[in-house]
Amino acid sequence: MKVLVIGSGGREHAIVWKLLQSKKVNKIYCAPGNAGIKAIAECVDINASDIPALLVFAEKNKVDLTVVGPEEPLANGITEIFSSAGLRIWGPSKEAAVIEGSKLFAKRLMEKYNIPTGYFKGFFDPEMAKKYISEKGAPIVIKADGLAAGKGVIIAQTIEQAFEAVDTIMIKKAFGDAGDHLLVEEFLDGEEASFLVFTDGKHITSLPTSQDHKAIYEGDNGPNTGGMGAYSPAPVIDKGMHEIIMETIMQPTVRAMEKEGYPYKGVLYAGLMITEDGPKVLEFNARFGDPEAQPLLMLIKTDLIDVLEACIDGNLDKMTIEWHDEAAVCVVMANKGYPGQYEKGQVILGLDKVSDMDGTVVFHAGTSLKGKNIIATGGRVLGVTAKGADIETAVDNAYKAVSKITWDGVYFRKDIGRKALNRLN
Ligand code: AMP
Ligand code: GLY
Repeated sequence: MKVLVIGSGGREHAIVWKLLQSKKVNKIYCAPGNAGIKAIAECVDINASDIPALLVFAEKNKVDLTVVGPEEPLANGITEIFSSAGLRIWGPSKEAAVIEGSKLFAKRLMEKYNIPTGYFKGFFDPEMAKKYISEKGAPIVIKADGLAAGKGVIIAQTIEQAFEAVDTIMIKKAFGDAGDHLLVEEFLDGEEASFLVFTDGKHITSLPTSQDHKAIYEGDNGPNTGGMGAYSPAPVIDKGMHEIIMETIMQPTVRAMEKEGYPYKGVLYAGLMITEDGPKVLEFNARFGDPEAQPLLMLIKTDLIDVLEACIDGNLDKMTIEWHDEAAVCVVMANKGYPGQYEKGQVILGLDKVSDMDGTVVFHAGTSLKGKNIIATGGRVLGVTAKGADIETAVDNAYKAVSKITWDGVYFRKDIGRKALNRLN
């Protein structure tokens, strides 16, 4: 079959890499892709948000299955548009993707169905928001409602900082229209984990647990990024905690979406805080995490096509998904300055030295081809991902590969996986 993967990050490179291993797949297109994806699939120069052009391409090239990586096309209804045209597509509908697109929708859903999360209130008026903040006290969290590329979240340590955040979002409109409406919510303390399930709208199957590293600097300091590295499994979630999460969060959420009339099909990602009072939801995402997808897709044994088709066809309960009984770690190599301003266009050196390292794959994110060279063109540039018998071995393997790659202005965190190791030792 012919598959079209939409997106251009490390997550999409991992999806393409895994799909290529399927005997059922004989052609993969990726729109728009990157230099790493170009080496293994046919990249098509169409933006991931250009749904009309993607539809024309899929129809013309008789694509059998489209796999959506990022949230934006989902939020803009690509699933309904492709389905109405008779094309098979994997990813939740526009209505179901609202679970990520509107934080307020997600919070209200959780409130209605008793799914554990922090207290919250939504506001259209900055003065009302400030009144509520004064009542609740700090620390407190202020979020722009709507998609703000992961940046519309401000954790205020003091009431003054919280007031400032309200002004930044609602008056200065730092996140554009996402700031017409904001959410004030309880600050949750604990360790974060990412919990993903495949679902066909009714049945759910969990992926191994994982943990992202959102902050730019070691020790989780500095501003938040899209994610500087990830590992799987995450020891903060033991077997008992896993059951609690499935029973009190994942099952009820999928059931709630169905009951509300928005059955959710695809991969549902819960960003959790493991607090002293148990797991609580920080947010939901309507897609694979990036960089969590890179270790997770290295660990899946089952043909990904079978899993994606079962999500679409509603028979996920009929299949068993198999996973390698190993750990995997992804270290993101970024451009210095990210998540702020950074230089672009530097030649990446050393990629040839890691191409034959067993169990290690360099997934590309912000890269392009310039002549014969691969150049760094994004904030997050590479996701160096390695498997190992345990987290410690996987961490060692990943950093071994990282040490062979460099460019002018490269930056990466040196402590990816340390939290897991601290917990295990
Ligand atoms: P979000 O985009 O909602 O996941 O928020 C981005 C990051 O901000 C999360 O990964 C957390 O690190 C942090 N965060 C968000 N909401 C809260 C909260 N209520 N309490 C503590 N930290 C939070
Ligand atoms: N790694 C966090 C995310 O994909 O949202």
